[in-house]
Amino acid sequence: MIILICLGIEGTAEKTGVGIVDSDGNILAMAGEQLFPEKGGIHPRIAAEHHGYWIPKLIPKAIDEAGISYDDLDLISFSQGPGLGPALRIVATSARTLALSLNKPIIGVNHCIGHVEVGKLDTGAVNPVTLYVSGGNSQVISHESGRYRIFGETLDIAAGNCLDHFGRETGLGHPGGPVIEKLAKKGSYVDLPYVVKGMDFSFSGLLSAALRKVKKGTPIEDVCFSLQETAFSMLVEVTERALSHTQKDEVMLCGGVSANSRLREMLKTMSEEHGAKFYMPEMKLCGDNGVMIAWLGLLMYNQFGPLDIRDTGIIQR
Ligand code: KG4
Repeated sequence: MIILICLGIEGTAEKTGVGIVDSDGNILAMAGEQLFPEKGGIHPRIAAEHHGYWIPKLIPKAIDEAGISYDDLDLISFSQGPGLGPALRIVATSARTLALSLNKPIIGVNHCIGHVEVGKLDTGAVNPVTLYVSGGNSQVISHESGRYRIFGETLDIAAGNCLDHFGRETGLGHPGGPVIEKLAKKGSYVDLPYVVKGMDFSFSGLLSAALRKVKKGTPIEDVCFSLQETAFSMLVEVTERALSHTQKDEVMLCGGVSANSRLREMLKTMSEEHGAKFYMPEMKLCGDNGVMIAWLGLLMYNQFGPLDIRDTGIIQR
């Protein structure tokens, strides 16, 4: 079988990345850059400027790292969404420019499914129920009855966003997740709202309540501990229900929040109680990266073929 090589461009939020993968699943290159806001959250325009600056530098870097020439590329893939509008436009424009100038086919892919597919590639999981938790997304995803389906998701902000916002408001810095994890080790439980509605979860009320506790003088360690326990229990509950609904025997965790050892422990315990195997990709593949976009691009290209770039400038399938 002919081996195809795909270059993928990611940049849905504060990270941008370029990955090169072949259709045997070999990762040939992985280059990336992250925006660290001076204060506050991620401003979509600043993220777009960041990606616009870095993508033209990351592409030749990845080509170099892969030891190939531009001619060796068979496909250009880009993350089509979900993400910050201005950042997505930069990613799409960069991919389109590259594809047109090299006269190569192009394909747009779903960012969240990219996380799932690269996770499967890395871990060997075949068809898991996936908990994908990052700064911008929180979803329970599984491939069921012929297509990917979202079994549960956040009704408002993502779990990582909840941690980051808490970190910023309390002076712990950005990103909040790693600092909160550290402080939580010294904390004990205080009551916080637990919100699971049907198969969905909600984090904005939890965030407000946690901030109120800090303002009223509850030790920050206790609030960090309780914030983690509450948010993660909500995520695990919905994953557990999706697992028993689908009767699958694999669970996978991915996204930046999977760096958290407490979340890993909770999800692993739940999986094992149900006789399911627990998987987590290598940490460098858990966060946003170009490799997942290149790999999903290859899978989708084999299934559906490329996008049609008309001279109107509108990308159509
Ligand atoms: O997937 P990711 O790298 O990128 C975006 O979503 O943009 O995820 C970043 C998220 C941030 O919200 C960050 O706070 C969270 O991952 N994170 C963690 C930890 N390390 C990173 N959350 C909890 N515990 C950690 N140790």
